[in-house]
Order: sequence, then structure tokens, then C-alpha cells
Amino acid sequence: MPASSLDTIVSLCKRRGFVFPSSSVYGGLSSTWDYGPLGVELKNNVKRAWWKKVVHEREDMEGLDAAILMNRLVWKYSGHEATFSDPMMDCRACKTRPRADHVFAAQKGRDPKGIVEINAAIDAKELSCPKCGSKDLTQARPFNLMFKTSVGPVDLGDDSGLVYMRPETAQGIFVNFGNVLDTMRRKLPFGIAQIGKAFRNEITPGNFTFRTREFEQMEIEYFVRPGEDEAAHEMWIAERKNWYLGLGMNPDNLRVREQEKHELAHYAKRCVDLEYRFPMGWSELEGIANRTDFDLRSHSRSPENPDAVGELKYFDQEQKKHLVPYVIEPSAGADRATLAFLCDAYEDALVKEPPAEETAKLRELVESFARSVGRREGMAADVKQRLVSAAESVAAGLPGTLPQLIGLMEDSEAASIEVMKKVRGVGEKIAEEHTRTVLHLHPRLAPVTVAVFPLKRNDARLVEMARGLKRELQKSGIRAVYDDTGAIGKLYRRQDEIGTPWCITVDFQSLDDQTVTVRDRDSMAQDRVNATELGNTFATRLA
Ligand code: GAP
Repeated sequence: MPASSLDTIVSLCKRRGFVFPSSSVYGGLSSTWDYGPLGVELKNNVKRAWWKKVVHEREDMEGLDAAILMNRLVWKYSGHEATFSDPMMDCRACKTRPRADHVFAAQKGRDPKGIVEINAAIDAKELSCPKCGSKDLTQARPFNLMFKTSVGPVDLGDDSGLVYMRPETAQGIFVNFGNVLDTMRRKLPFGIAQIGKAFRNEITPGNFTFRTREFEQMEIEYFVRPGEDEAAHEMWIAERKNWYLGLGMNPDNLRVREQEKHELAHYAKRCVDLEYRFPMGWSELEGIANRTDFDLRSHSRSPENPDAVGELKYFDQEQKKHLVPYVIEPSAGADRATLAFLCDAYEDALVKEPPAEETAKLRELVESFARSVGRREGMAADVKQRLVSAAESVAAGLPGTLPQLIGLMEDSEAASIEVMKKVRGVGEKIAEEHTRTVLHLHPRLAPVTVAVFPLKRNDARLVEMARGLKRELQKSGIRAVYDDTGAIGKLYRRQDEIGTPWCITVDFQSLDDQTVTVRDRDSMAQDRVNATELGNTFATRLA
């Protein structure tokens, strides 16, 4: 079964070295995460696959790596200084500051059309504080999401050194349009791709790495003649959707959603979101917008922009005139894509039945957990109901529901119930022995491509051959690891859990005929392959 909650993914990520809470030795910093040894490999593979597809495999694209810190005027003329904000209101009773548009949407059942409509609802006492229920709310005010810092050794406190941490990588591309056009002698249509960090002081970060204040974007600005923009937009919607599917994403978990007029950013004529079915529901993975000529015009010298040094335009040889290109922008998040691939790849299943007496003991404990939650005071009603119904359904279906029990044992709300410790004590051991957790990651995304084991770690000949194979594979560009820290069955399980598509075992027959066992993660089939053919075999499978 797939991951039933994000907690299952968070727990796997922490346990197996994909993602750790940031600054944990000092108690952490909310909603900031560090990619561990396996996470950095996975995320790098996601970025590499994107770059290969949108830059190297196309004839009409160039790459760029612009600075994070830019002249403040970039953000003035892009419109971010004035409009990149979320509406916040204060509750005078409990002193909290909720997001006004979220409160409006939750309480009126639809998105507001703007801050004016939100404030009309506040004045009419139609909205109440989501924490304490009071209707004594201030008017909603815009709260800018850009992080500020200052350049230079002295901060004069007068904003003279003010710069922003870029909230999107896109503007670095727009202001380099002329440089790339001139140096690379490009003709329309062509695009510029960039991967890099972006920063937003999000009011409501959360859902693990889905929404954070520091994140990485993978953005394309694709420049076309006005009039050719709509066809280019359709082309990019199909291209981007196929990229996720080509890397193994389940088509049932990916959908295209047209943004409604009132959702559109100030620069967009049309925007289509690719949405993924995350454990918390359908959510944006990538936005593909038609930004028209808004950005190139905004950064061009004009009566509205006396600060720009020139004009960002294109000389059309065919029409013998200058024009300002339209822009199609497929804008993806590297962290969000990584999280989606992780969720999509996750599977846990019962592989063998535990003895009846162990199952009975576990059932009793889970039922006791359900009763204990039911009696608990001070727990939010929805959390209580969720935990009780999850525990009751696990208890009724054991041992078939062992995979769901893993989710329950990893639920952060469940951890506060005393009896959960006992459930874990028994359940973790049974789950470890009787269930299998697998990440069915595409081989090009998996942090490790091949793991090599000797059948016996105390046989020097097996160890030497296995280590030698690992080195050879690595030389041919295949990410390989050597491991001899457990029995073969245990080593397979560990590699399944981190998504390694192939494991090689060197056994005594290998010493005689130079063949090894190659075990496939998904089918669990084992083939005998000549060791000299391994490099080619895996390179072909990865191509
Ligand atoms: N240049 C257009 C732009 O930045 P966006 O919809 O604000 O558009 C594009 O962001 C993508 O960046 C999103 O689809 C998402 O994948 C990622 N993203 C945006 N904000 C994020 C955040 N706070 N945390 C993680 N990823 C984020």
C-alpha cells in the first residue's frame, strides 16, 4: 500500500538518512530541513534529470546560474515589492495573526476575490478567529514575503544597503535575457533554464518539505513571438507532464488544473498547475504560466521605469522590426518534486504471516490504544476520531493491516499516548520481520543504483571480488555501494527501503565462473550475470 500519511514518509526520511530536521542539536528551526546522504543524492538526481531533459536534450534551450542577491530595483520593477504578499489579520482577543484569505476560504467555502472582499466580510462580522472564535478582528493587511538583508559592512538603518533574498529564480533569467540572446546568437523561440535557491517568509510553511521558507526552484523562461505563445504554452504543459510520467510517476497521481481568473498572478494571462496527489491531498507541484511580455517590458527603460539602462527586446530579421517576446514559464520546485517522487515510490506490504499468538498480543495492544485515545481529554476531536478509527481498523484486520500499523506507529499525534510505547515495542519487531517497505524509485532517481554484497563477509576472496566490482561500476559512472554488515536477506531489505533498483551478490560460484547474482528490487527476480557485462547491463537500463 502507498504511504497513508506524510508522517510515514517523514519517518522513513529521518530513519534512512534522506532528510533531517535542520539545526536539531539546538532544538531545530521550524519548517527547515537538511538533506542527508541519501536525500542529497535523490534531489541531485531529480535536478540532473530535469536539466538533461530541458537543456541538454533540446535544441532551443540554454542554462544559467544567476546570483541570489540582485539589485533591489529588480524587485521594484518586477512588482514584488508592491504585490508579493499574503493578507494577514490580527485577532484582538487572543492576539494571533491568521492568514485572512485562508480564514475566508475555510469559513465561506470559497476563495476571496481580493483583500477588499475579505475586509468587507470582517466588517460584517462574517469571519471569526480560527483559534478562539472571536469576531473582534482587525482589517487584513498585506505582509510581504521577501526576506531582507543588507549589503556592505555598515547598516545605516536607512535601507541604502537593502537587498532581498530572491523569492523566485525567474527574475535572474529575465534580466539576463539580452546577455544570453547576444552571446549565444539565439533566434526565437528559445528558452533559458535555471536551478537555484529561493526564499520566502511563508506565513504557513509545513507539510514537511512541501512548503518551506528556503527551497529550490527549477525554472524555465521560454521566449516566443507574440501570437505563438498559446501553442508554446500547450507544448510545455505536455512536456512537463511527460517528464514526471517518464520518471515513473503514477498517472493517477498527477493531474493538470487550470487556474481560475482570480488565482492568476498579476503578470499571468493563463496558468496551468500540475498537481500531485500528496498524502494530504491534491497540491501544486509545478505552475506553467503565460507571463506575456510583462517582465521584459517591466525591466526595459520607459517612462514607468527610468532606472533601467536599456530595453529588453528582440530584432526580428523576418519582419525587420523589434519586438518584445512573450514568455512561457514552467516553474517547478526541486524539493516538491523530490517529495512527490518519494511519496509515489513508497510501498509497504505484508510478506509473511506472523505467528497467531504474536498477532493476538498486538491486536490487544492496538485495541487498548484505541480505548485510551477515546478516553483522552484535551485532544482535538478530529485527531481523536482519526486515531481511533485508524486503530480500530488496524486491530480488526491484523495481520493484513501491519503496513497500516507502521503508519499509525509513526503518527506524531499517536506518540503522545502512553500505550503507544507498548504497541511499538511489539509492533516494530513484527513489522520488521513480516513486512517489506520498498521505494520503487525510477533507477535514474534512486540514490544508489547498485549495491554489492559478498555472500560471506569473513571470506577474503568474496570480499575482494565484491569490492572490486563496486569500484569497476563506480568507474563506469554507476553509483554503487558495498555492504557486508548483515545477512543477505537483511541487506536486500535495507536497499529496498532506500529504493536501490539492483543488488549484486558475490558467492562461491562467482569465484569459479565470474558470474554473480543480480536481484531486481521490484520483481525480486534473481539472474546470474557475467561480472564483465555488469557495467554495460546497468548503463543500458539507465539510458
Ligand atoms: N516564478 C514563478 C513562481 O515562482 P510559484 O508558483 O510561486 O511560481 C513555483 O513557484 C514552484 O516553486 C511551485 O510550484 C513549487 O513547486 C515551488 N515552491 C514555491 N513556493 C515554495 C515553498 N515555499 N516551498 C517549497 N517549494 C515552493
